[in-house]
Amino acid sequence: MDFHGQHIVVTGASSGIGLVTAGLLAARGARVTLIARRADKLEEARQAIGGRTAWAVADVGDKAQLDAALDAAVHQNGPIHGLFANAGMTGGFTPAVAFDSDVFEQTLRVNLTSVFWAIQKVLPGMIEAQGGVILVTGSMSSKRGMAMNPAYVASKHGVLGLTRAIAVEMAPHGIRANCVIPGFIRTEALDRIPPEQQGKIAGRIPQRRMGTPMELAEVAAFLLSDAASHVTGQDWAVDGGVLESIEV
Ligand SMILES: NC(=O)c1ccc[n+]([C@@H]2O[C@H](COP(=O)([O-])OP(=O)(O)OC[C@H]3O[C@@H](n4cnc5c(N)ncnc54)[C@H](OP(=O)(O)O)[C@@H]3O)[C@@H](O)[C@H]2O)c1
Repeated sequence: MDFHGQHIVVTGASSGIGLVTAGLLAARGARVTLIARRADKLEEARQAIGGRTAWAVADVGDKAQLDAALDAAVHQNGPIHGLFANAGMTGGFTPAVAFDSDVFEQTLRVNLTSVFWAIQKVLPGMIEAQGGVILVTGSMSSKRGMAMNPAYVASKHGVLGLTRAIAVEMAPHGIRANCVIPGFIRTEALDRIPPEQQGKIAGRIPQRRMGTPMELAEVAAFLLSDAASHVTGQDWAVDGGVLESIEV
């Protein structure tokens, strides 16, 4: 997997999966542009990753900010060859009957609509180049229901559908789109769960442990690379076997 000469934009790159994947892509030769809301974390990441790493601040749920960040990415690092649309939020856990409709809309905007906006923004350049790759971060909630968070489940089902739609429409242009599905990956998002609950979760994973961001990043890098040149419209879980197991 060699990314020399390629510019890959990673959203949600100030921590967790996005940060580790950006570092791996850069280590394999890519110029990476990091997008998230926290400038201090992005600057820390830029210094840690080194090379021609650039960053731009944006709340991806704000189309004007996202567009400006993607313009800045091109300005700093040239035409975009790959987009890893990874930023996402969990939203609150509330019974469906009481779920706040503003939170519902915000979750859909950050997790789904922003991915569409980013894809729409990078596609013209990719179509012109007759090549490019898009990777979206889904969730096990892209394929399964989960109680108490209808917004998250709907948004993550949505990004998988969006990925498939883009994959089919863009295949004739040499553009691929896939969805990587984290199971339980140890990031800031999971660190917020109380330790005893984390232990219970790990016990229900067939591998009996959570995954690391690097285990996710390796699969993300593969799907973004030319090694996956005939792979499009797919979802690939990195979950220690959870999705394929029966709950008892
Ligand atoms: N870890 C898991 O087990 C797991 C499981 C299923 C799905 N996922 C998905 O994986 C993706 C990455 O999550 P993670 O686990 O790596 O969690 P994380 O460490 O909390 O990272 C989330 C990233 O998204 C960014 N972000 C959140 N809201 C944003 C917004 N409105 N605009 C711009 N950036 C935003 C955050 O940066 P700022 O705060 O700086 O903006 C951060 O860089 C998400 O899509 C999440 O749904 C993770």
